[in-house]
Amino acid sequence: MKLIYVAGKGGVGKSVCSAATGIWASEKGLETLVFSMDPAHSLSDIFDIDLGSQPNKIKEHLFAYEPDLAEESRSFFRRYKNMITALFGLFEVEVKPEDFASMPGVSELIFMDKLNDIYVQKKYDLVVIDSAPTAMVLPLLQLPSITTGFVTKVLGIRNKWIGVLNMLESGFGDSILKEVRAMRLKAETMRNALTDPKTASITVVTIPEKAAVEESRRLIETVQSHGVNVSAIVINHVIGECPCQFCQEKMASQTSYIQDIRNRYHDKDIVILPDYGGEVKGDRLNRVAEDLYVKGQMEI
Ligand SMILES: Nc1ncnc2c1ncn2[C@@H]1O[C@H](COP(=O)(O)OP(=O)(O)OP(=O)(O)O)[C@@H](O)[C@H]1O
Ligand SMILES: [Mg+2]
Repeated sequence: MKLIYVAGKGGVGKSVCSAATGIWASEKGLETLVFSMDPAHSLSDIFDIDLGSQPNKIKEHLFAYEPDLAEESRSFFRRYKNMITALFGLFEVEVKPEDFASMPGVSELIFMDKLNDIYVQKKYDLVVIDSAPTAMVLPLLQLPSITTGFVTKVLGIRNKWIGVLNMLESGFGDSILKEVRAMRLKAETMRNALTDPKTASITVVTIPEKAAVEESRRLIETVQSHGVNVSAIVINHVIGECPCQFCQEKMASQTSYIQDIRNRYHDKDIVILPDYGGEVKGDRLNRVAEDLYVKGQMEI
């Protein structure tokens, strides 16, 4: 199974590129899932289909999935009930399953847990991950090591506390350990998958403007420092030839940012995606797929 993680600043075209990649891969006969890791899901709109909270078949070989965060939060809470209770108990905070998902960092944890379920099932040849804007992607990539560090600490205090917790409630300490081990196994599995270039790669989507180019540079540095392979950069919303002064000036500025990106990342696939002059959804996705994978010669 391969994972393609589509990342970038807010609104640059991640979901459009994820959906188009799903279409392209499925047409090549790969069993493909487009998985939304953004709490503000938009795949339903882009595919123009009402996706339920289960992987939904869009067409031959193509599935899309927008996990329902509230529902998944409840099941995550059940799965790790003892660990969560003990952790919040340490700080004397009572936490309810319905409030849990809105806590900082928790949605990434829940989506990562869900992605792990899909990864270990090995039902698909390719999973395209439509991620949340950059700000949320960074902690997500750090999550496996944070979780591993955290659970290692908890395991480290095993001898001190587990017996005491078992005395409070029979089996409570052992249940915590069991859940902590399960979570560590998942975090490690996903870290190994994400840092294996044969399994995972990141496609960074950007636009040829200063703030977006700078943010992409930081994103690429950060993920590469975590050992994750960035294979392609999509430069979206590039305008075409037009003699008017406004477009000429915009083109000159876009060209200079595109050149910057080409100079800095000559080892990566750099693909230009034109501005289509209107919302991209439904059948228009085929054109995006062609522009990425035929004209742009991106590879899956
Ligand atoms: N090349 C393009 N030409 C015209 N419109 C585009 C293009 N690419 C994306 N769009 C439009 O821009 C909007 C944002 O695109 P999209 O939802 O894919 O961005 P995103 O990066 O996923 O945003 P978010 O960070 O909010 O998840 C959508 O309305 C989409 O139809
Ligand atoms: Mg999106």
